[in-house]
Amino acid sequence: MQNLFEPLTAGELKFKNRVVMSPLTRARAGETRIPNDLMAEYYAQRASAGLIISEATAISPMGYGWRNAPGIYTDEQTDGWRKVTDAVHQKNGQIILQLWHMGRISHPDFLNGALPVAPSAIAAEGEARGLTGEKKSYVIPRTMTQSDIEETIADFAAAARRAIAAGFDGVQIHGANGYLIDQFLKEGSNQRTDKYGGSIENRVRFLIEVCEAVALAVGAGRTALRLSAINGYNSMNDDHLPELFAHVARELNTRQLAFIELREPQSAQRVTPMMRENFKGILIGNDGYELATAEAAITSGALDAVSFGQKYIANPDLVERFQRGAPLNELDPKTSYNNGPEGYIDYPMLPTTRAA
Ligand SMILES: Cc1cc2nc3c(=O)[nH]c(=O)nc-3n(C[C@H](O)[C@H](O)[C@H](O)COP(=O)(O)O)c2cc1C
Repeated sequence: MQNLFEPLTAGELKFKNRVVMSPLTRARAGETRIPNDLMAEYYAQRASAGLIISEATAISPMGYGWRNAPGIYTDEQTDGWRKVTDAVHQKNGQIILQLWHMGRISHPDFLNGALPVAPSAIAAEGEARGLTGEKKSYVIPRTMTQSDIEETIADFAAAARRAIAAGFDGVQIHGANGYLIDQFLKEGSNQRTDKYGGSIENRVRFLIEVCEAVALAVGAGRTALRLSAINGYNSMNDDHLPELFAHVARELNTRQLAFIELREPQSAQRVTPMMRENFKGILIGNDGYELATAEAAITSGALDAVSFGQKYIANPDLVERFQRGAPLNELDPKTSYNNGPEGYIDYPMLPTTRAA
């Protein structure tokens, strides 16, 4: 029987415990999109996690679309990330970079006026936030051509190589939450008639090609994947999620990735147990877990580890708090995406937690 505080090996990654920090956009990189000392401090404070997954990070200018989020496509950004990885490693932590392309969820404001790209010319419902934070309707994106697809796959691989050059222990491909890869996966946003659309096999093809290219670039054992089984968020819609994810599991079983992190609300889990049965690799669960539910999932063998999002924003020493049964700090959602130290590096730690 495993518990939350036991180590775990996932490909080339070695977790000292099974409490994972899920990827969290915090928008502190500023207009330059270059990681900075403040971000290094924030991540280093959380180094007791078994694994830190970084905030979503744009793989290319076309993939960008969130004010003050970081990128990993220039030398300056790569050097900035080096500060973060050094600070985490000095605290004996482990950190991987989440590779992000937003597809149709971006906006021309971020793209020098160009239309965002997506599998099909279907706008997401709702509003994007523009460059100055004002709300703007999502636009109808431009349908990706075969050469757009090939370039984007190459961008994922190049960004992964940069991440390793910046000192990350690995990368996580962002295949979740309605961004580009998810837009290919789900039927509501993919109405292509070529080999990337139509059947489940075809809709999964882009994801698999990205996984293969990134694994080739940095090693499968350093390549992880995030998926989400949620309809609604960022206009995702698919009536056959279990079948879709069963096919993903079958395809990925031969690819030896480090792990899959699957986001699915626990209230109506249909995909996570199915994924556990069909996927032979390491499975990390996410969304709404508490200490007790996370421990139960791990001791029962339903999951190998659990990732925490909002609790990690508010509790840099989440592992120590869990270990001691200490109360958790409350999250202040107002400061989630503010540009500054408030609500970022000033959540209190337990008095006896060693100073970060
Ligand atoms: C402020 C904030 C930023 C987030 N940023 C990202 C992100 O960059 N990438 C991602 O995959 N998920 C992101 N998420 C989703 C979280 O990783 C996580 O899936 C979600 O919060 C549910 O887990 P929780 O109940 O433990 O918070 C974000 C969530 C929040 C609240």
